[in-house]
Amino acid sequence: MRELPDAMAAEFDTVAGWTATVVEELGEDYALPSACRGSGSPAALAWLCEALQLKAGTTLLDAGAGVGGPGAFAAQRYGALPVLTDPMPEAVAAGRRLFGLPSLVCDSRQLPFPAGRFDAAWALGVLCTVEEKRQLLAELRRVLTPTGRLGLLVLVRTTDHLDEQPDGNSFPSYDELRDDLAATGFQVLDEADASDFPDSPVAWQAHVDRVQAVIGERHAEHPAFRAAEQQSGLLGRLLSSGQLRTVLIHAVVV
Ligand SMILES: C[S@@+](CC[C@H](N)C(=O)[O-])C[C@H]1O[C@@H](n2cnc3c(N)ncnc32)[C@H](O)[C@@H]1O
Repeated sequence: MRELPDAMAAEFDTVAGWTATVVEELGEDYALPSACRGSGSPAALAWLCEALQLKAGTTLLDAGAGVGGPGAFAAQRYGALPVLTDPMPEAVAAGRRLFGLPSLVCDSRQLPFPAGRFDAAWALGVLCTVEEKRQLLAELRRVLTPTGRLGLLVLVRTTDHLDEQPDGNSFPSYDELRDDLAATGFQVLDEADASDFPDSPVAWQAHVDRVQAVIGERHAEHPAFRAAEQQSGLLGRLLSSGQLRTVLIHAVVV
């Protein structure tokens, strides 16, 4: 298991387990919305699925899948065959509990798959959690077929200096991201800014809010809850002040 700073472990592991428990109690309609953690709206996910030409039988690596919502979205709406991977055991267990998809605890900087195993791969909200971005991208390229498609959702910084620094994050600039992709053998075909997509539909957001509220009622005093809240509040402020923006990328192997 990857050792993460406390705030990240709280957000990505402990809260993931709580999320699965609450969704199991509230019902399956709550699963997809609350298991998309940081991956944007359904419209942004649909854009990625269309760009990567996901269809019935497309094999998809969801690298850093968290609770697995995006991979499950690709399976349920497009018929793709995702494999969910994440270094955090509780997140992987949560994804397996909620969606029953193949799921594996592993670090995407070193993937336990043979070369050319997947038609498509995506890493949504993951790149800014690792320093070794080229190592992670090179691993994704290795496990893609020669015609493989890559999807990314990346928080990029628009300034050299951020007012506040969330624990354990390292945000690339847009130019650094493009350099990292070129250096690891990818060509960008399409890109979009997440702010150009419509907000999540009211029903989707209401499901997210309900799960969050129940978790809050149960765990508000828990240090992991407070750390996760602090971390996501900080990210929200950096996004709304424009110091970070969310970029979607579709790239192909060259
Ligand atoms: C913001 S969450 C996004 C989760 C999911 N992709 C989504 O969009 O809902 C970032 C995820 O990256 C994972 N992560 C951190 N380091 C990683 C690594 N080295 N390899 C793969 N995933 C990693 C975290 O455990 C966490 O689940």
